[in-house]
Amino acid sequence: MHTADIGVYGLGTMGSALALNMAEKGFNVAVTNRETDWIAEFVKEAGSLSTNLVPNSELTDFVASLKTPRVVLFMIPSGKPMDDMIAQISPLLEAGDTIIDGGNADFNETRRRSAELAERDLHFVGMGVSGGEEGARKGPSIMVGGTPHSWQQLRPMVEAIAAQFEGSPCVDHLGTDGAGHFVKTVHNGIEYADMQMLAEIYGLLAKGEGRSAEQIGDMFATWNEGTLQSFLVEASAAALKSVDAATGKPMVDVILDKAGQKGTGRWTVIEALKLGVSASAIEGAVGARIWSAAKDTRMTAESTFGNTTQAIDFPSDLDLAKAMEAARIISHVQGFEVLRAASDTFDWNLPMARIAEIWRAGCIIRSKLLDDLAAAFREELPHDNLLLAPSLVARLQDCVPSLRRVAAAGVLGGYAMPSFVGAIEWFDSMTHGRGTANLIQAQRDFFGMHGFERLDQEGKHHGDWLREI
Ligand code: 6PG
Repeated sequence: MHTADIGVYGLGTMGSALALNMAEKGFNVAVTNRETDWIAEFVKEAGSLSTNLVPNSELTDFVASLKTPRVVLFMIPSGKPMDDMIAQISPLLEAGDTIIDGGNADFNETRRRSAELAERDLHFVGMGVSGGEEGARKGPSIMVGGTPHSWQQLRPMVEAIAAQFEGSPCVDHLGTDGAGHFVKTVHNGIEYADMQMLAEIYGLLAKGEGRSAEQIGDMFATWNEGTLQSFLVEASAAALKSVDAATGKPMVDVILDKAGQKGTGRWTVIEALKLGVSASAIEGAVGARIWSAAKDTRMTAESTFGNTTQAIDFPSDLDLAKAMEAARIISHVQGFEVLRAASDTFDWNLPMARIAEIWRAGCIIRSKLLDDLAAAFREELPHDNLLLAPSLVARLQDCVPSLRRVAAAGVLGGYAMPSFVGAIEWFDSMTHGRGTANLIQAQRDFFGMHGFERLDQEGKHHGDWLREI
């Protein structure tokens, strides 16, 4: 009784891996699962780590086995299953206990659950865990949202199991209620953009230049040696160089071109727009996944419109690498802008530099760039905007001409590059002190008397509009 430091409910891939990781770090972990026959199997497979596991098939015994104040980590599907489990377990808990949702959850639900449980003196933590199964087992990046009380309870455990970057654990308390799940959602939005940009380069080279999957994989492997070093570049290189045992063809050549999504990238875009921020590189990636799903329409449209591609001056490999660097910087800047808007709206006071730091290892978007961004956050940031960090300005000045050439090659050649094009469109909009919204304001006033500000006078004005042309 009362011996376990934490309880893990849900022994699927991620739950099992986190439970084993904690057991390995010396914590006593109570474990249980909805399908109770999994529990014994899990404990058997844990081998010598089973001495640190406390298996229970009854929820009451599971709760009773926890040290107080209790910490229960749920690793179950988001949505209704989480609400159902909160309803079942909360009558068994006492004031000061903490329930953690460690899945990818909609932060709006996390905020609602936090408020509901707070009324009963229970604490709710929305905890983003990134790094897939291997990360969860060997060291994930962990984004915690919740009360300082819960953070105190959790901290020794999550710091022990998280990935380490040069001795610093890739975990932190980022803010109250939905902060952790929101940051994880934006992490995934950036993940979508990074994956999409690599797929766009692949498409341009494979379709436009006829390069083989292996050759493109070799190029990505070279990228991984330099400033573009990242897990996703490395994973894409390995995926492109992998061969299907059944056919002897590159694996990617036998995979149907319809992308799945569980929805976190789409949430990023929805929430960004609700907050009044547009993250165009991420929007491009979400759109691309949605369009990819319309396989039948695409097949018919291809035969209807015929070959819409045309010969282009092909960008050099150096241009491609620099374009990737610029677009990647832009998608991250956009992601951090979404975080800033949410932080202001929900009073989270998100620690931006720290977020960049805890993304440097363990998570899916880990990259050399994130180390540079963590440093950039400590520079003088005019308008508090990462785009204007002196070190990034210099890099963008060097790389944006390549981004422009690569995006233009896609557009002129007829190869879809929505994330690259979204990135350069945003850059060109944000780097013109005077844009074109003066005409939008004129149009709004012309037909709706919405009024506008003038450059030369204070206040709100209406135009002397011609009513006929
Ligand atoms: C991570 C990943 C992880 C998972 C996504 C994939 O950080 O470990 O983001 O959460 O890979 O769920 O999401 P999609 O199925 O939407 O691509």
